[in-house]
Amino acid sequence: MLPLYAVFGHPIAHSRSPDIHALFAAQEGVAVRYERRLVEGSLHDALLPFAAAGGSGANVTVPCKEEAFHLCAERSVRAEQAGAVNTLIRLPENAWRGDNTDGIGLVNDITRLGVSLRGAKVLLLGAGGAVRGVLGPILAENPAAVTVANRTAAKAHTLAALFDVQAALFSELAGTRFDVVINGTSASLAGENLPLPSNIFEQAKLAYDMMYAPQDTPFLRQARGGGAQHCADGLGMLVGQAAASYALWRGFEPELEPVLHTMRERLRHA
Ligand code: ATR
Repeated sequence: MLPLYAVFGHPIAHSRSPDIHALFAAQEGVAVRYERRLVEGSLHDALLPFAAAGGSGANVTVPCKEEAFHLCAERSVRAEQAGAVNTLIRLPENAWRGDNTDGIGLVNDITRLGVSLRGAKVLLLGAGGAVRGVLGPILAENPAAVTVANRTAAKAHTLAALFDVQAALFSELAGTRFDVVINGTSASLAGENLPLPSNIFEQAKLAYDMMYAPQDTPFLRQARGGGAQHCADGLGMLVGQAAASYALWRGFEPELEPVLHTMRERLRHA
């Protein structure tokens, strides 16, 4: 029987994870099964037949990452910091260990792009699960300062207090310069512009959207217009978090560049 993995979420038909993991398996020179599993009730219930079929590892995506966090018998420090789990590793007795590879996927992609977070002034836009998921690994790189800015002040303050960083409203950013600006809001998904003062990008070495799309997202258009030196979408983060999950399951660390190249080509022609 082939090793069995899957990605769980709702919706799930759009997920690119099976394609990415197939490319990793080809690199390792093994055959694995990696399925999409739609979660219609609870993740707990969706995992039961998967475990019974011999599932040994899973990715978890929206909106199941918090439930995944709660159902794990063990959790990594990264998962505890994120308050969410995107990677499940099978333990004996139908139990799961939870990890979160989103943050390391982002940090590795920023490094791949030639930008160092060490000593950098970093701005994170948004204060939901996406931003919480990456704050721990970003802080581990020793940036000079991190600001969390959000449309709703209370959420920015709660998250900033949890990680001991600065909180701000978008309007309060005017006149402040950042080295790295990361969009973790879901505004790009809705095709919406963020009400950002344009001068925040003037000294930005990198503007990074955690979303990805065949063309520039609204945030990346804003960043380019505002003078950001380099703009990137989140496809590299997607491939990076998947690679870190694959390494946890199989002890094999996939090479990212060729997979990212293939996925970019497929996205262009989708
Ligand atoms: P996720 O888990 O993907 O982070 P979430 O918890 O719903 O999803 O958070 C979405 C984030 O995007 C929030 O920070 C939200 O801002 P609010 O806290 O003010 O709701 C932000 N967001 C979504 N659409 C936005 C928009 N059009 N403009 C500004 N912020 C937006």
